[in-house]
Amino acid sequence: MPSYVITGASRGLGWGFVKHLSEDTSNTVIGLVRNAPATIERVKTELADRKNIHILQADRNDTPALKKAAADTANITGGSLDYLVGNAAYLDMFDQFDGPSGFLANSTPEEFTKLFRSFFDTNVLAQIFLYEAFLPLLLKGSIKKVLSISSCMGDPDFNREWAHDQAILYSSSKAALNMVNIKFGAQYKKDGVLFISMCPGVVDTGYENNRIYIRPALAAKLQEIVGKFQAYSPDFKGAHEPVESVKMMLGVLDKLSIENNDQGKYLSHLGTKRWLP
Ligand SMILES: NC(=O)c1ccc[n+]([C@@H]2O[C@H](COP(=O)([O-])OP(=O)(O)OC[C@H]3O[C@@H](n4cnc5c(N)ncnc54)[C@H](OP(=O)(O)O)[C@@H]3O)[C@@H](O)[C@H]2O)c1
Repeated sequence: MPSYVITGASRGLGWGFVKHLSEDTSNTVIGLVRNAPATIERVKTELADRKNIHILQADRNDTPALKKAAADTANITGGSLDYLVGNAAYLDMFDQFDGPSGFLANSTPEEFTKLFRSFFDTNVLAQIFLYEAFLPLLLKGSIKKVLSISSCMGDPDFNREWAHDQAILYSSSKAALNMVNIKFGAQYKKDGVLFISMCPGVVDTGYENNRIYIRPALAAKLQEIVGKFQAYSPDFKGAHEPVESVKMMLGVLDKLSIENNDQGKYLSHLGTKRWLP
């Protein structure tokens, strides 16, 4: 009976993990969310017959709430955890599509600093506290795998080769997250806990509703980015569906092990350093 904890389970890829994993009734699927009643309602509406889903409330940035979620998880699983999926992240569309100077020109230093802290608090620091809260359970698990959802935008070579000037804060936070996984991996190798950073590919998680469409200049920037993606990977036809990406990532994760020297690796949903399609 493998057990999974997934952060950011309310929507997007996190919901995709919950939906896909709970199809197998032998899995225990625990979703961490900021607004538990809303996600419990979503489960009731869309996945009503799935008794193996548990939704717990925990803002990633609230360390005591993470510890409480870990204690609640232990009560559900009997004290252990097999898989931890660190998926939730802070995302901001201005950063996501603008180059550094455009982004700076459109924000005050105070706003920029606040955004910097939001990215690093949620995407890096909170992941460290997430690991700290759940490692005692992982150490008692039988699989012991941590899947940290990263992004190709955290890859220095990909950014350099393709002159990706957008998403300075998001990219930096994901690069830092990759290093966090390497460090935890180095420490917990002897205990058999595998840490993997993985990019899910480009996934349709509803960005069309976002404010990028309010600023025409950013819509043009998006076209430029898509053009670069298509040049990088002529097979790139557009975004994957969340469950499709989840299946690809879990397929890759299944084959990785400490024994095969995969500890701390940073890979795509294809299991390689090719980030698309
Ligand atoms: N979609 C893509 O193409 C893509 C590409 C590369 C990497 N990724 C990575 O994939 C992961 C999931 O992205 P997504 O596209 O599914 O994003 P999304 O649809 O915007 O979902 C983000 C999730 O993170 C949660 N979250 C944000 N801040 C949080 C906090 N402080 N505490 C707890 N939960 C918080 C959100 O919860 P609420 O519902 O409460 O806001 C939501 O569940 C992220 O790590 C992202 O960087 C995505």
